[in-house]
Amino acid sequence: MTERLISSDYTADEDLFEQSLRPKFLTQYIGQEKVKQNLQVFIQAAKMRNESLDHVLLYGPPGLGKTTLATIIANEMNVQIKTTSGPAIERPGDLAAILTSLGPGDVLFIDEIHRLDRSVEEVLYSALEDFCIDIVIGKGPSARSIKLDLPPFTMVGATTRVGLLTAPLRDRFGVHCRLEYYEVYELAKIVTRTADIFSVEIDSLAAEEIARRSRGTPRIANRLLKRVRDFAQVKGNGTITMELALNALEQLQIDPLGLDHIDHKLLLGIIEKFQGGPVGLEAIAATIGEEAHTIEEVYEPYLLQIGFLVRTPRGRVVTPQAYQHFHMEVPK
Ligand SMILES: Nc1ncnc2c1ncn2[C@@H]1O[C@H](COP(=O)(O)OP(=O)(O)OP(=O)(O)O)[C@@H](O)[C@H]1O
Ligand SMILES: [Mg+2]
Repeated sequence: MTERLISSDYTADEDLFEQSLRPKFLTQYIGQEKVKQNLQVFIQAAKMRNESLDHVLLYGPPGLGKTTLATIIANEMNVQIKTTSGPAIERPGDLAAILTSLGPGDVLFIDEIHRLDRSVEEVLYSALEDFCIDIVIGKGPSARSIKLDLPPFTMVGATTRVGLLTAPLRDRFGVHCRLEYYEVYELAKIVTRTADIFSVEIDSLAAEEIARRSRGTPRIANRLLKRVRDFAQVKGNGTITMELALNALEQLQIDPLGLDHIDHKLLLGIIEKFQGGPVGLEAIAATIGEEAHTIEEVYEPYLLQIGFLVRTPRGRVVTPQAYQHFHMEVPK
């Protein structure tokens, strides 16, 4: 699979970059107003009662700010955060080790919580509900179960696939926060904030243009800004003007809606080879030389979301909006 600038997925080499850009408190977190207002109240109430915050479930597509929000919750509650992920906790013993290392009120952040092992999940239930765990020590006839008390803590779980969570686990979160794609003006604020951290000047129109091409996703907005900044440094005088941004984005092959060459290949492939569809996934895959599941999991979602592609029982169909985007005549 080719590297895509507009992929919303996290890449490991961006780790430090992302961390440096993460807002630390709710007031610095842009957008997601409902989620923010609710959390603000729950956090304040928990602090007034001197209790730990209820367990929080954060869900939504990649790159919208779940991990960021988890660290903000810990900062706002003024507690430590321990971070792990579903697949990293292989056995109940691993979970016990993490849980017993928590201090009172601390945040345990479990990313990709839908990927928890069942045996681990079972142990987690009592930890979440009663702040205690039963673990089995030893093997065979001498094995015995001991009960460990835990300090009250807050679990923050994050997932992009909330539908895969089991009901008992989902029900143990008192607070559910669904993150939404961002509006252009919100992303423009994020771009401006990031430019400020980079100490680079950016015109408000340029920030908005980058925002418009970021697919509703802060991670993509920050990544595009980073690349555009390179152009500003090399081709310009360091300031990101509208003209410079437009040139850079064209050079990067990100079109006005944030579509890249792969989106174009997919849509134009269906238009040119199959008269716009309907066409089956396998046939598309063979035509453009990509794996069917990659198309389904990675390439299609955004095109479906913006209504350029629809799924019908007979296959994928390119919509009139997509034809218009390419300045092509819509077939009868
Ligand atoms: N509301 C926001 N305001 C400012 N910056 C944000 C906001 N949300 C996200 N970001 C930035 O976007 C980047 C990605 O956010 P984050 O890593 O929290 O996403 P995520 O939802 O955890 O993604 P994934 O599902 O891949 O784990 C971060 O570097 C962060 O700085
Ligand atoms: Mg994350």
